[in-house]
Amino acid sequence: FAQNNASITISNNSNQIISKHIYGQFAEHLGRGIYDGFWVDEDMPVAKQDRIRLDIVKALKQINIPNLRWPGGCFADEYHWRDGIGPREQRPKMVNTNWGGVTEDNSFGTHEFLKLCELLGCEPYIAANVGSGTVEEMSKWIEYLNSNSTSTVAQMRKQNGHPEPYKVSFWGVGNESWGCGGNMTPEFYADQFRRYASFAKNYPGAPLKKIASGANAQDYNWTEVCMKNIPLNMMWGLSLHYYTIPTGNWSKKGSATKFSEQEYFSTMANCLKMEELVTKHSAIMDKYDPEKRVALVVDEWGVWTDPEPGTNPGFLYQQNSLRDALIAASTLNIFNNHCDRVKMAELAQTINVLQALILTDKDKMLLTPTYYIFDMYKVHQDAKYLNIKVTSPDYVVGGKRIPAVNASASQDSTGKIHISLVNLDMHNPVTIRIVLNGLKWSKINGQILTSANITDVNTFDQPSKIHSADFNSAKKDGDKLTVVIPAKSIITLELN
Ligand code: AHR
Repeated sequence: FAQNNASITISNNSNQIISKHIYGQFAEHLGRGIYDGFWVDEDMPVAKQDRIRLDIVKALKQINIPNLRWPGGCFADEYHWRDGIGPREQRPKMVNTNWGGVTEDNSFGTHEFLKLCELLGCEPYIAANVGSGTVEEMSKWIEYLNSNSTSTVAQMRKQNGHPEPYKVSFWGVGNESWGCGGNMTPEFYADQFRRYASFAKNYPGAPLKKIASGANAQDYNWTEVCMKNIPLNMMWGLSLHYYTIPTGNWSKKGSATKFSEQEYFSTMANCLKMEELVTKHSAIMDKYDPEKRVALVVDEWGVWTDPEPGTNPGFLYQQNSLRDALIAASTLNIFNNHCDRVKMAELAQTINVLQALILTDKDKMLLTPTYYIFDMYKVHQDAKYLNIKVTSPDYVVGGKRIPAVNASASQDSTGKIHISLVNLDMHNPVTIRIVLNGLKWSKINGQILTSANITDVNTFDQPSKIHSADFNSAKKDGDKLTVVIPAKSIITLELN
């Protein structure tokens, strides 16, 4: 195969920060995400605090997850918070109608979630029930969480073991209100948002960042109506959901582990659509909000494949391959490059569900290829964005083309420069020449993630088949840099 060339110019002329909240995670009451994921049976032979798995906590702390969205997803709009507080044995049970029809015993509720966030050192992002809940219910949940008053509901929190207000800040007003969250029109939802948000109060020291339930993929009208009908000062963010479906067909999405080069190509082409979506939704937001006060919050993204054969289809359990690492890296590059508007994002869904960071099998756990991308990219969190221009050769399959190379760059508070590079071409390495304008550095090191086959995965028998490794082959040439990036790989360079 031919060796291709790409060129990248990086300039130190931006004043944007890549918000750490772009690296957020999502954990729904779905399948084995919470139950038998984060939250395990008392007799599970792993280190635990209460029933929270500490090996998972330790692994997630390592990648500095900044926030965790909960309790859904579709589950959020049938969740009633009062069912999940107080003595566990007295909590009501319900059926999780969205996800497998299993019994939800509510043993993991508000206090358990906030303890998990405390252990993770991350901010909670709660998605509240608009679809089947009431204004009163949402309003009281916020009071329960954040008020230090003598009101009955604030006293209840104290009696339940948390004297201090939790000071939750990120607050989702419904989820997918165009679908499972109530099948609303954008006009109706915008009115509902205004009403619910009016009673979502700020308590002392706990101002809320209210996030409106946003568009499904290319539903630009949803964004238009929300931006037009909701006063800007009422919402901190407006969300967007987009999943990469390998085949593009929701009824036969494609396997997580067995796919052809053609299907790999269509997966990556679908993944890169995020660029167009973010650009177009941002352009609509710019019309109403040129000062970019409202954040675009991509609070569900990732690859969604067919479930693993033999697992409950309602549990959305899927393996995670090198392909998924390329999806994560390319998507995070897109978000970094749009950090003027994208201030928050959550990968769906952390443990054992969809594009997970961690898979578990009883007391065993493994880190997926996607986990290593979040580890390699954590250096961009809250770093100064560096403008980047990429000229890439195409990766061509069946006459269709996508750019082989995508990238993003930032400079952290200590002056270190980080450049993340992705080569999507399954066969050809690419020689990348990088010019850095207005930036000084003398030493380079880096990390790479790749594997022999695009379908390679980590399994419980071979949990470390794919992992990041040192990369020391970048060459300095004056103020330029040359890197040969192998086929189907991701590199993050550190220049200092
Ligand atoms: O992440 C799985 C589901 O996808 C979520 O519950 C829902 O919001 C979306 O449709």
